[in-house]
Amino acid sequence: MVTSSGTIHRIRINAPDPIMAFGLRNEQVERSPAIFLSGHGIKINTESGRIVFIEKLGDESHIFGLGLKALSMDRKRNRTACVNVDPGGYVRFKDPLCLNIPFYVHVDGSSIHALFFNSPARVEFDFGVSIYDSVMVHIPAEDLEIFLIGGGSFEEISKQWASLSGLPCLPPSWSFGHIISRVTYLPSSRVLSVVDRYLKEFPLDAICLDIHYMETFHIFTWNSDAFPDPEGMIRALHEKGVRVITNVSPSIKADQNFKLFREGIGSYIETENGEIFTGEMWPGKSAFLDYFRNNARNLWKHWIKDWISQGIDGIWLDMNEPTVITGDHLFPPSLVHNLDGRLIRHSDARNAYSLFQAMSTHEAFREAGKEPFVLSRSGFAGIQKYAMVWTGDSTASYDDLTLQISMVVNLGISGIPFCGCDLGGFLGRSSPDLIDRYYRTALFFPFYRNHKNSDGNDQELYILPDSYKQKIRKSLDLRYQFLPTILDLADGSSKTGLPLVMGLFQEFMNDRTAYYLDDEYLLGKNILYAPQVEKDKESRQVYLPEGIWYEFFSGHRIDGKCYVNTIETHPIYIRDNSITRLSWGLFIAGTGHFEYGMEREQKIKFSGNVLRSSYEFHCERLVFCGFRFSRAVSSGREFRPINNGELQVLEISSFREIMFFS
Ligand code: GLC
Repeated sequence: MVTSSGTIHRIRINAPDPIMAFGLRNEQVERSPAIFLSGHGIKINTESGRIVFIEKLGDESHIFGLGLKALSMDRKRNRTACVNVDPGGYVRFKDPLCLNIPFYVHVDGSSIHALFFNSPARVEFDFGVSIYDSVMVHIPAEDLEIFLIGGGSFEEISKQWASLSGLPCLPPSWSFGHIISRVTYLPSSRVLSVVDRYLKEFPLDAICLDIHYMETFHIFTWNSDAFPDPEGMIRALHEKGVRVITNVSPSIKADQNFKLFREGIGSYIETENGEIFTGEMWPGKSAFLDYFRNNARNLWKHWIKDWISQGIDGIWLDMNEPTVITGDHLFPPSLVHNLDGRLIRHSDARNAYSLFQAMSTHEAFREAGKEPFVLSRSGFAGIQKYAMVWTGDSTASYDDLTLQISMVVNLGISGIPFCGCDLGGFLGRSSPDLIDRYYRTALFFPFYRNHKNSDGNDQELYILPDSYKQKIRKSLDLRYQFLPTILDLADGSSKTGLPLVMGLFQEFMNDRTAYYLDDEYLLGKNILYAPQVEKDKESRQVYLPEGIWYEFFSGHRIDGKCYVNTIETHPIYIRDNSITRLSWGLFIAGTGHFEYGMEREQKIKFSGNVLRSSYEFHCERLVFCGFRFSRAVSSGREFRPINNGELQVLEISSFREIMFFS
């Protein structure tokens, strides 16, 4: 299919009145969808309450996106449903999971386009399984809004998709640090001692308190035996530099003696007969706020503001697909949501439930004058505006590591850049080697949290054998070294919608090999990472696409479009003509020619095409890779490279150490 780059077409089938409104800038509406679509090789069949969308799937086609899927990077030759469901834990191929976005990107040779089916109902996708050369999408509706996004590149598509579904909110910088979690650390003395033990040996930015902090799972309460002085505990944690995130589900104990339940009456999801729907959740029989209603959102905001006023730094929205813990975990399809007066069947709106919940949680932080940190398990198109997400209840295994890369990359493509996985794996048993490899694999994932179910095994880092502690410390050390770059990219992402973690194909769209690499990824455009995801193996082959790359630790130059062998524990490659900001200084890679002159003031200037802005940077160390020098650098700490036309103006001062790899 050929669509012009940078355009979004809204296609209306019949007369849709979508539940979620997505506004276009420079709107282009085709008045005659039938003619437009056939011109793009698309067929749409509408038959007895169903819409079937069909487009060609070529030999060179690759499919990405759709939110969270336990599938390989490329979704081609898979059938998958988009309906948010708690799968009760997953391994590869389990489908569906808890966060679905009916949006996919289709690359076919050198052409690329994306499609968004604006329906929060169950939508089914078949990428060449039933019919070898066709994509088929089944939507249980008579009318529908579809968006077709054209673009010349993944970057263009990401920007367009962000302009439609919303730019990601920038999470607080502490939330990119190391976070720990467990079902469930208690009592409060234990919480404090876990944190102390961590802090003796590892960096730590936050701790999550899982469901048992509550009084018999009553929302927004504390188990007073285990947490007699929650505010005191939170203060003590803050003094240690550790933030506190609490787990909250949408389930409210259906009990007239529970004040919050009474306050919620008039704001709950109802049955067709107008009765409050109740289902089984952690507290037993529970009611669920209907976040589609304004009054429910206001009430929720009021509760959240009250809750975080104790000093809580973040809210972790869990079980918000929404979930009951019985049967298939779904809600009866006939339940009724009230979208401010408009009654909608649950099955037509289900996937957007968590979006409204996250929106009001985010707003509550803002209204309270606090920087929002919201972590959500479920979501729909636009969830990135309000929350970070994680990949849900994974099962510890070596296969799960590779799966996590494909999940985080595809969430990024789906518009959700800020995400991560449960380091160590949530379910099952993780060996020290496996825990180490989770820390390595997720090194550059935006969200970096160790989390484990109550069973399985303990995986607190301080209990591991010394040799593994050392290995994991290296990952944490690198994580914090690269944090300035992660934060720079995160800031950029909140302005452009571009993901931080990308598949190699996103930058090297015409490189066929790049589509077959499920165990390598890019951080931004300039850092390639190839973690070792196999058990007990330290060597691996890394594919480097076209261009010049520098091995991060040795500065060794490699001319790309080749495979290289490495035994490095963290195979990191820096792309030519780039500047990477690290906690200790700058890593400057370029193939230019530099001359040095000693000058009095400690300043260096470059010019060229890498950093778009010029800014003063105070750092300890500068590492140069790949430059040819016309004059040897002596003991001097001051120098001025002559403009080589390749790096843009940048001023650097106060550096203490200069290293050269050439
Ligand atoms: C869900 C969450 C998990 C959490 C557990 C208990 O399974 O996905 O992260 O620990 O509930 O609250």
